[in-house]
Amino acid sequence: MCGIVGYIGDNEATELLLTGLEKLEYRGYDSAGIAVMNGKEIRLTKVKGRISLLRDRVGDNNVSGTIGIGHTRWATHGEASEINAHPHQSNTGRFTMVHNGVIENFEELRDNYLPNVELQSETDTEIIVQLLEKMYGETKDVLQAFQKTLIELKGSYAIALIDKHTPDVLYAAKNKSPLLVGLGTDCHLVTSDAMATLNKTKRYVELEDKETVMLTKEAVIIQKLNGEKVDRKPFETELDSDDMEKGTYPHYMLKEIDEQPYVIRKIIQEYTDSTHRLKIDEKISKAIQQADRIYIIAAGTSYHAGLVGKQLIEKLAEVPVEVHIASEFSYNMPLLSENPFFIFISQSGETADSRAVLVQTKALGYPALTITNVPGSTLSREADYTLLLHAGPEIAVASTKAYSAQIAVIAILANDLAEQKGCNISFDLDHEMSLVANAIEMLASQKEEIESIAASIFHKSRNAFFIGRGIDYFVMQEAALKLKEISYIQAEGFAGGELKHGTIALIEEGTPVIALATQENVNLSVRGNVQEVAARGANTCIVSMKGLNKSGDAIVLPEVHELLTPLVSVIPMQLLAYYAALHRNCDVDKPRNLAKSVTVE
Ligand code: F6R
Repeated sequence: MCGIVGYIGDNEATELLLTGLEKLEYRGYDSAGIAVMNGKEIRLTKVKGRISLLRDRVGDNNVSGTIGIGHTRWATHGEASEINAHPHQSNTGRFTMVHNGVIENFEELRDNYLPNVELQSETDTEIIVQLLEKMYGETKDVLQAFQKTLIELKGSYAIALIDKHTPDVLYAAKNKSPLLVGLGTDCHLVTSDAMATLNKTKRYVELEDKETVMLTKEAVIIQKLNGEKVDRKPFETELDSDDMEKGTYPHYMLKEIDEQPYVIRKIIQEYTDSTHRLKIDEKISKAIQQADRIYIIAAGTSYHAGLVGKQLIEKLAEVPVEVHIASEFSYNMPLLSENPFFIFISQSGETADSRAVLVQTKALGYPALTITNVPGSTLSREADYTLLLHAGPEIAVASTKAYSAQIAVIAILANDLAEQKGCNISFDLDHEMSLVANAIEMLASQKEEIESIAASIFHKSRNAFFIGRGIDYFVMQEAALKLKEISYIQAEGFAGGELKHGTIALIEEGTPVIALATQENVNLSVRGNVQEVAARGANTCIVSMKGLNKSGDAIVLPEVHELLTPLVSVIPMQLLAYYAALHRNCDVDKPRNLAKSVTVE
């Protein structure tokens, strides 16, 4: 949550900061701001709202300078307002700062150190910059004051700082929130995500927790908080700036839905070994084999992928699996088995709720694997093992291709485990996954039909139900999340048989009920549930698998292996949500109140 970017170099900083913030907007978009320094003058521009508004405001302000910092915010402390927008300044106007993270002890710091300081905003960030000013009064050295301030902070931060009196230096620091240092040919940068600064460089240096960095045009000096210098080698990011563009698509979400066949094929390619078999790293496979139970920890869409993952691992590899919502697990840990193995599923690799569990389970000495789309992300770095999704950057806030990639990678993991254990696998995963990719392609070409279903079924509805049984129930939980997060229609994913135990009371004339039937053993029961709600006035829509379909079914899915159906059945659900949101004029890629990377617990 929140994105920061900082620039020092030969060129005008403003445009670079604004373009960078546009790329970081997925991290939060309720307010934004930049500060640009020209000699000893700092120009601060802040808005409540999106970067496009900031761009207009900056245009009016004629902001110029070759060093600057910028921020796009997802409010934690203090409402979304211009005053609470970053950057924040110390009262003398000397220090100006942007911050991503949460300072847990900000009230204590305020009471202990700043009792007489008049604060301008309600943010925890302002406390940091005011405290820095106070520390400077004691040290008379900016870096030392910065380090001293950081030592006092409890919580997470990625900070970029400029100082009026040292106009040739950009300061930054990090703890638990992501921050990279970019090495351009004529500039140095800091950014929450490399994708924001790819137009300037592909070379980055990672900052580790509790490190500061001083950037000048010529040099990058990393230090620990005690002043000890750190030497770290840069790396080249594999990200391509073309992957970040929408191209001819109206929305990233639609582009990312369409990318799913390529993602599946890319995963097949990445996980095929020299003997042409789909494998995971032997070390990971061996580690998991030691486990008597696997615990999957995730949030949101990734949690839903975990529910499907459980089915795959249990059915193929015969290892018991529990799936837990990260934010629940962290304070309510269940009784663990003797040899647990933890799998963290996270598109961003930054989700604070999941990380909190990883910290706990690591402290207990349990092995962990992170399945993520982002190499080098916090969860990837901190777990013992990583499996990458290879899905390419997912920019729309609503996750689509990462969900499919997560299921595909877990299918490979489950298949590999099953082979190692000598379980009887009756199918060729490589071949079946290729069929899945083709099936997704077919469905993605039926957009017009799906759009007209969305228009008719969700027209003016306040709520909707998505029902299924077994693995279809898990997909319908994801379907409901997709619909509600981007169209704001109240939606629930329900086990078909459970509806009659209470919730059916909500069904009234015209209530949309979408049913999924991809599994032979429950096909008739789900259809029975559809009859029950239709008899009470529901507007029903059945999505079924070819071979199980009946006349009147709204969407018939191409046939794929029964364990891999979620990869296919989720496609019309993503498209239904997309078109429902579109028809309601919602901001598909940036739904209200959300952020892509949820770095607060
Ligand atoms: C929904 C969505 C979220 C994320 C959740 C976890 O479309 O994207 O529910 O799945 O915030 O994020 P990651 O996977 O990055 O840990």
